Amino acid sequence: MKSFIVAISGASGSIYGIKLVKELIRTEAAVHLCISDQAVSIIRAETGIDLSGINLLETEDKIRKHFKSETIRYYSNGNLAAPISSGSYKTDGMFVVPCSMKTLAGIANGYASNLIERAADVVMKEGRSLIISPREMPFNTIHLENMLKLSKMGVTIAPPIPAFYQRPENVEHIIEFVTGKLLDSAGIENSLFKRWDGVMNQD
Ligand SMILES: Cc1cc2nc3c(=O)[nH]c(=O)nc-3n(C[C@H](O)[C@H](O)[C@H](O)COP(=O)(O)O)c2cc1C
Repeated sequence: MKSFIVAISGASGSIYGIKLVKELIRTEAAVHLCISDQAVSIIRAETGIDLSGINLLETEDKIRKHFKSETIRYYSNGNLAAPISSGSYKTDGMFVVPCSMKTLAGIANGYASNLIERAADVVMKEGRSLIISPREMPFNTIHLENMLKLSKMGVTIAPPIPAFYQRPENVEHIIEFVTGKLLDSAGIENSLFKRWDGVMNQD
């Protein structure tokens, strides 16, 4: 069974992180989830999903109910003693979706002051797969340098940028495309979007 860490940080596009968790559960991967405090507020603002209190109570109940999963593990961002804080705890890799510029900076500079940054640090030092989806617009030079630094270390930089060649008809199609590309980056089979088949649509 594959096992992935998913971190949702406080950037716009929290729905991508939520969709990713649902898809990983669907593929029966073990999911270790961490949501920053700022992301909890943004999830509520952007999707109406109310996860308030999870980081205070340090409970998985609310998360398990929300994702209808008995196996998903949840850790608050302050829990630096969580299993995923150690390289001795094995996983197949980590996604940070969406990744705020603050969390990007923390990861790129080995700051490790919270669980998201520490788990990413661990995944990198152990040579495991790290896929981050930085979201800001426009990017400044600091953001770009942080991404370049991580890219040179083998981190996959996969911003939530939609394509339009598959003619998305609604927001769900865009979310599915981005999530499908993220799963592709980790080598996880999916049919969330129509793949380019070389035929240019002319109608
Ligand atoms: C509604 C809202 C949307 C935000 N969107 C972004 C964003 O897209 N990218 C970003 O880097 N920061 C964004 N921020 C700012 C971050 O939330 C802020 O820098 C925060 O400190 C990030 O903390 P975290 O990385 O620990 O979650 C947003 C803030 C709010 C309130």
